[in-house]
Amino acid sequence: MQTQYPPAAQDAMAAVAAVDLVKVYGSGDTAVRALDGVTVGFTRAQFTAIMGPSGSGKSTLMHCLAGLDTATSGQALLGGTDLTRQSDRVLTKVRRERIGFVFQSFNLLPQLTAEQNILLPLELAGRKADRHLFAHLTESLGITGRLSHRPGELSGGQQQRVAVARALVSRPEVVFADEPTGNLDSRSGAEVLLFLRNSVRELGQTVVMVTHDPGAAAYADRVVLLADGKVAGEIDHPDHASVTEALRSLAAQR
Ligand SMILES: Nc1ncnc2c1ncn2[C@@H]1O[C@H](COP(=O)(O)OP(=O)(O)O)[C@@H](O)[C@H]1O
Ligand SMILES: [Mg+2]
Repeated sequence: MQTQYPPAAQDAMAAVAAVDLVKVYGSGDTAVRALDGVTVGFTRAQFTAIMGPSGSGKSTLMHCLAGLDTATSGQALLGGTDLTRQSDRVLTKVRRERIGFVFQSFNLLPQLTAEQNILLPLELAGRKADRHLFAHLTESLGITGRLSHRPGELSGGQQQRVAVARALVSRPEVVFADEPTGNLDSRSGAEVLLFLRNSVRELGQTVVMVTHDPGAAAYADRVVLLADGKVAGEIDHPDHASVTEALRSLAAQR
């Protein structure tokens, strides 16, 4: 069921929120309004998928909320921090210490082993790993036998599971995943999605995932739909059919 989004971005339950967020690329005749006043909150300990047609602003929204890009106006809130008002130095620290990332292309460092890759962000932040959590994550992800291998010796699915462990081991306030299953076969993709869902259920992790795949979105607790840089609706407890129908109806309105 598609429902209107309530104006709950400042909701105390939101781990991350956008408030009237605008992002304009370029200027003058060639300006592109990638985000056109987005207000949306992502609830703590929930798995949310962001969906919408190509060019609707999904990646831009995620990048602004993750401090990877700066918005033109509005607020990008992580906990109590408005990322639009921070210096590059602070944003680097925020990304390192408070956010976990999973990318479509894994983004592991080829010269480091799987274990070194997983622990690198903590090391850069000068923090000690929680060995209990490290063991739990690597066991649940089925990569305990792969920890001394370099990414080049791992399958795509294994590399992405290493990237997921890296994203979660610092207990970040939010994990952002941009098309995490885009380069995986369906079985490896399902493993990653199941694990992300379990991290929400069992560890209380907050996960926000961009995907164009209704099957992937069906693992989420909620889908937020974007169209033309605006929130175009949302779906609670999405399944493949409800997501497919919502996307079809969005396409028909264009
Ligand atoms: N760096 C950029 N420079 C100029 N335009 C951009 C840039 N990044 C994205 N855009 C434009 O902003 C709009 C939204 O892009 P994007 O957020 O990547 O959409 P999506 O991820 O939903 O496909 C598109 O029209 C895209 O062409
Ligand atoms: Mg994109």
